[in-house]
Amino acid sequence: MTQSAKSLDRETVADRLLKGSIKRSYAPVVDIDWAAPLDEGKYFLPPQVLSLYGTPMWESMTEPQRIELSRQEAANILSVGIWFENILNQSLLRTLLHTDPSSLHTRYILTEMGDECRHMTMFGRAIEQMGAMPYKLRGYQAVGVNVLPKLFRGTMLWVAALIGEEIFDATQRRTLDDPQLQPMIKRLMQIHVTEEARHIRFAREGVRRRVAESHPIERLWVGSVNGVGGLLFRRLFTNPVMYRRAGLDSREARRQAWANPHFREVQRSGFASLAAFLDENGMLRLPSRVMWRRGGFL
Ligand SMILES: [Fe+2]
Ligand SMILES: [Fe+2]
Repeated sequence: MTQSAKSLDRETVADRLLKGSIKRSYAPVVDIDWAAPLDEGKYFLPPQVLSLYGTPMWESMTEPQRIELSRQEAANILSVGIWFENILNQSLLRTLLHTDPSSLHTRYILTEMGDECRHMTMFGRAIEQMGAMPYKLRGYQAVGVNVLPKLFRGTMLWVAALIGEEIFDATQRRTLDDPQLQPMIKRLMQIHVTEEARHIRFAREGVRRRVAESHPIERLWVGSVNGVGGLLFRRLFTNPVMYRRAGLDSREARRQAWANPHFREVQRSGFASLAAFLDENGMLRLPSRVMWRRGGFL
């Protein structure tokens, strides 16, 4: 098997990540103080990353209304996170049917799946603790969630994993030290960022390896369609139900969010490092570039 100089051997990568997992993993059941009461007056996401921050609607809101919006936006993002991790775990489980069960690569995939199971548990419990309700999949979303695990394979699997993980991760890293943040959410983000760093390394190595090994047509295809992620995220992050639950006019709220330069900046900086990586590996072809730009990420 030929490998490019840049891509590492699969077993070497898995070995490092397994060692890292032994050193730093969390059990949110005990690593978050679930008995601690919420800190009244603190935000569930820092105000400056909220979709409406700085808009006319935002300016007209009281502090408690702004905090309520942050509660709903956080519950929405955590719900989307649970859907994504569900899809990713389904895809990973399917790949295991074809890999060597005694390899380090397989062992690391199972370890990552275990991390995601704990994350989904943590996100669900956090939604309850926040006093919010989870967001449910609507018609077309349910179709997508049932089809995507079958589509995510080969190069597509690793690119999709990065899209699902890196954008959230970059934003969490920038915001988890915000003093306005609820302590429970801060802890959740710390745990998530630490474990996701390994997942991101694993997926990036996956992309590099596939770029070295896969057929040019596969690379062209994946590089051209991944921008759908940008269009999808733009809709998911401005879920009208979320605005309605925060007591706002959902149509007007979404309109203002889509036109909001502050929010665009949050999206752009969340995507910047991933965009550079995709581009470096020939995974940001023109159609994708157009879609990511339309989604507000470029
Ligand atoms: Fe996760
Ligand atoms: Fe992950």
